[in-house]
Amino acid sequence: MIVCVCHRVSDRAIRQCARQGMAFDDLQLELGVATQCGKCESCARSVWQECGSAAPAAHIHMTQDTLQGRA
Ligand code: FES
Repeated sequence: MIVCVCHRVSDRAIRQCARQGMAFDDLQLELGVATQCGKCESCARSVWQECGSAAPAAHIHMTQDTLQGRA
């Protein structure tokens, strides 16, 4: 589904960026979403929030033991 008509940005593209951990500002710079007429902003933010910081693709936690090869 096209979310941003001005820049032809799909929900899929927004989800893909959100899963990579992009902030909404970064998304705007990368895709141009919500940077022209702004009518898509609330929908774009909703899609971004569904997949964004609340559900990161991966979280890596390395302890000192892991870094030193003792884990
Ligand atoms: S529809 Fe997204 S900026 Fe206009």
